[in-house]
Amino acid sequence: MEQAKLRELISQMTLEEKAGMCSGSDFWHTKAVERLDIPAYMVSDGPHGLRKQDEEADHLGVNDSIKAVCFPTACATSASFDRDLLREMGEALGKECQAVGVGTILGPAANIKRSPLCGRNFEYFSEDPYLATEIAGAHIEGVQSQNVGTSLKHYLANNQEYRRLTSSSEIDERALREIYLAAFEGAVKYKKPWTVMCSYNRVNGLHVADSREFLTDILRREWGFDGYVMSDWGAVNDRVKGLEAGLELEMPSSKGENDKLIVEAVKNGTLDESVLDEAVERILNIVYRYTEQAKPDTVWNMNADHELSRKIEEECIVLLKNEQMLPLENRGSIAFIGKYAEKPRFQGGGSSHINCFKVESAMDAVNNPAYGIRANINYVEGYEDEQDEIDKELVRKAVVAASQAETAVIFAGLPDNFESEGYDRKHMSMPRCQDYLISEVAKVQPNTVVVLHNGSPVEMPWIDQVKAVVEVYLGGQAVGGATVNVLFGKVNPSGKLAETFPLRVQDNPSWLNFPGEKNRVEYREGIFVGYRYYDKREMEVLFPFGHGLSYTTFSYSNLCVSANAIIDTDTLTVSADIKNTGKVAGKEAVQLYVRNPKGVANRPVRELRGFTKVFLKPGQTKTVTFELEKRAFAYFNTEIHDWYVESGDYGIEIAASSRDIRLEETVEVMSTRKLPFTVDFNTTLDELLDHPELKDVMEPLLKNYMPQVVNVEEETEDDGFSAEAGWTSRKDEEKKEKSAAEEAINEEMQKSMMEQTPIRGNLSFGDGSLTREMLAEMIEKANAVLQR
Ligand code: BGC
Repeated sequence: MEQAKLRELISQMTLEEKAGMCSGSDFWHTKAVERLDIPAYMVSDGPHGLRKQDEEADHLGVNDSIKAVCFPTACATSASFDRDLLREMGEALGKECQAVGVGTILGPAANIKRSPLCGRNFEYFSEDPYLATEIAGAHIEGVQSQNVGTSLKHYLANNQEYRRLTSSSEIDERALREIYLAAFEGAVKYKKPWTVMCSYNRVNGLHVADSREFLTDILRREWGFDGYVMSDWGAVNDRVKGLEAGLELEMPSSKGENDKLIVEAVKNGTLDESVLDEAVERILNIVYRYTEQAKPDTVWNMNADHELSRKIEEECIVLLKNEQMLPLENRGSIAFIGKYAEKPRFQGGGSSHINCFKVESAMDAVNNPAYGIRANINYVEGYEDEQDEIDKELVRKAVVAASQAETAVIFAGLPDNFESEGYDRKHMSMPRCQDYLISEVAKVQPNTVVVLHNGSPVEMPWIDQVKAVVEVYLGGQAVGGATVNVLFGKVNPSGKLAETFPLRVQDNPSWLNFPGEKNRVEYREGIFVGYRYYDKREMEVLFPFGHGLSYTTFSYSNLCVSANAIIDTDTLTVSADIKNTGKVAGKEAVQLYVRNPKGVANRPVRELRGFTKVFLKPGQTKTVTFELEKRAFAYFNTEIHDWYVESGDYGIEIAASSRDIRLEETVEVMSTRKLPFTVDFNTTLDELLDHPELKDVMEPLLKNYMPQVVNVEEETEDDGFSAEAGWTSRKDEEKKEKSAAEEAINEEMQKSMMEQTPIRGNLSFGDGSLTREMLAEMIEKANAVLQR
C-alpha cells in the first residue's frame, strides 16, 4: 500500500486500535481491524521448516503443527559454505508459506556460537560472524523472493539458554561490534529482512527489548533496517519504553494488558502519539506487503521438498576424518550399528520442531532400490536413544555383528534430551553408552566408520580408534538418504566446519564464564571467540574451523591481488586458481582469511573475510575471485567508536581451512583516518616519536628539551652490528667489565623505561634543565601541529 494511503488509514484508527495493532491477537497472528478492512497476517516458526500451528495454537506446542518438511538445521546448512544453496532452501520455504498463508517465517537465527554448550546451537550458524551473516542473508533472500517475510533472530547476544529471559550478557563494545552485532549486520544491511526478532535477554544490564541503542540507533539508523521489530515470545519487559526504543510488535498477545499501558501513556502525555503511529505504519507496511500479493494458489509439493532437503544435506555433510576408508565399496557385508541408522536424530527440540510428513533413515535408503545398494547391510541397535547408561547386551550384539562384517558403520550422536531449546548442555560428551559402543566395536573391527548426528561439537575419545568420521549434523528429514549417498560415494562430501571442534570443552574460551552466575554472564573472552581464540593461543584442536575432507583433492595456485599497497577506502580484488587434482568430481569451499598485522590493537591472528564454493570435474581448474573492502581489514576502535584500519602489512590467505592455508600474499594497507591524539603531560615519549606527524616536528624540540632521552634513543638503536666488523663490536663490548649500575639497569630496560615515561616524568628523572613551563610550551607546540 502506498505510504500516503497507509497514513490516511492510520489516521482513521482509534487510539485503542493503534495500540492493539502493536501486539498479536493470539500466538501467531497480528490483529485485524474489520471496520477499516485491515487484515490480520500470520507468522510461524521457522527456521528450517514450517511449524504452522492450526486452530488451537499453544506456542511450544502440545498441539501439533501441520505436516511439513524438515530441512537441515542451521548447524548443518552453514557447513555448506554455499549461499546459493541457502537461497534455494529459502525459496522453497517461502513457497511453502505462500501455500498455507503464512506471511512471515520466524528465522533465520544468526546468533554466534559462543560456547559448544548452548542448547540451541543447532539453530545457529557459526562461531564466525561473517559466515553467520552471509548464510543468514542468503536464507533471507531466498524466502523473501517469494514475497514472504523473515524474522532475523534472536537479536542480540542470546548465546545461551540458561536464564535466557532474564540473563544479562555483559559484553565490551569491541566484542559486541566485531562479533555479536556483526553476525546480524550484513544480513540486515544487504538482505533487508522484513522483520527482526528481539531476544529475551539483557545486554549490559538492559533488556534488548527496551534498548533504543540496539533497536533504533544501530538497527535502523546505522544499518538502514526498514521493517518492524517483533519481540521474541514473551520478551517484552516494559511495553511503553520498548515501543519508544523501537520494538513495534509484541508477540504473542498479552491479552490486552500491555496495549492498555500504551493507551494510558498517550493519554497522560508520557508517550508521544506519533511514536505509536510510526510503529503501526511499520507493522502495517509489512502486513500489506504480504497480503496484497499473497499467492494462495501456490501448490506445496512435499515430496519435491523432501528431495530438496536431501540434496541440501548432501552439500552440508562434513567428512571429518578418512583414512582411505570411504567411500564404502558397494559390495560385501557391512554392519550398520546404532539406533540412529533406523531412527535418525535430524532436528532439535523446541520452537523449531517440525511435524515431518516423512522421515528417511539410512536403513530406509539402503532398502530402497533407488539407492542401488548391493552390499549386504546388517542392522543392530547398539544403544538405546536418550540413554547414557551402557547396555552390555546391546553392545555385545553390536560387537558380534561388527566382527562378522567387513566394515562397521556406527550411527551415533546426541539424543534430543542432550541438547534442546530451553536449556544448555552440561558437558560436551556423547552418551556414555555410545562412546563405549564405538570403542568396543573398533576393537574388533579395524574398518570402523562413525556417522555423527548432533547439533554442536562433541568430544571424541575414540577418534584414534576409527578410520573415518562423518559429521551429518541435524540434517533434516532426508538425512538417511544423504548419508548413504555420501558413504557409498554417490555424493562427494563438501561441507566444512562452521565451528571449531575443541579437544575438550574446557579448552573453549567461554569455559570459565558460561553460563554465568545467576542473571549475569560476562563475555570475558571478548573478541576471541572460536578459532580467533584457538589460533591466538596456538592450541591444538580436534578439528579446526573450516575443516572438511573430500573424496578428491584440490590444488591451489596463482594467487593474484589487484595491488600490493592500497589505502583503506580502496577495494582489493583477490583471485586464485583451484584445480581438482583427483579422480572424482567435487566441490571445494575456498576460504579467504585476512591475517592481521602486529600493530597496536590486540587482534586475532586471522579472520574469515570471504568464502566461495566451487564445483570441479577431475582435472578442471576454475578461478575464484573475492573483493575486500575496508571492513575486511578493520577492527572496531573504541576510541572513535568506529571501524578503523591500522596501517600495516596484512596477509591475504587463501585456505582450505583455518589451519590449512594454501596461498599467501602480503598487502600494505594505509589508513586514511587520523585517530584523535592530543598531547598532554601524560603523553609518553614513544607516542611522540612514533606519531607520523609529530616525529619530525618534535625531534628537534625533544633534542632541545630532553637531550639525554633522545640520545639514549639513538644509542640504543645501535645494536652492535657493523658491516665491516659484524657482531664482533658487541662481543668486544660485552667483554668490557660492566659497572654495578650497568648491571642493575641494562640498556633495554633504560630504553623501555624512557619510552614509556610520560612527559611529566622528565621533571623527576631529567637533569633539572627542563621546567614545567618549558614542557607546557612543548605540549602546546605539539598540539598546534596536530591541529594543522
Ligand atoms: C523462540 C523463538 C520462536 C518463538 C515462537 C520462542 O520461544 O525463542 O525462536 O520463534 O518462540 O515460537
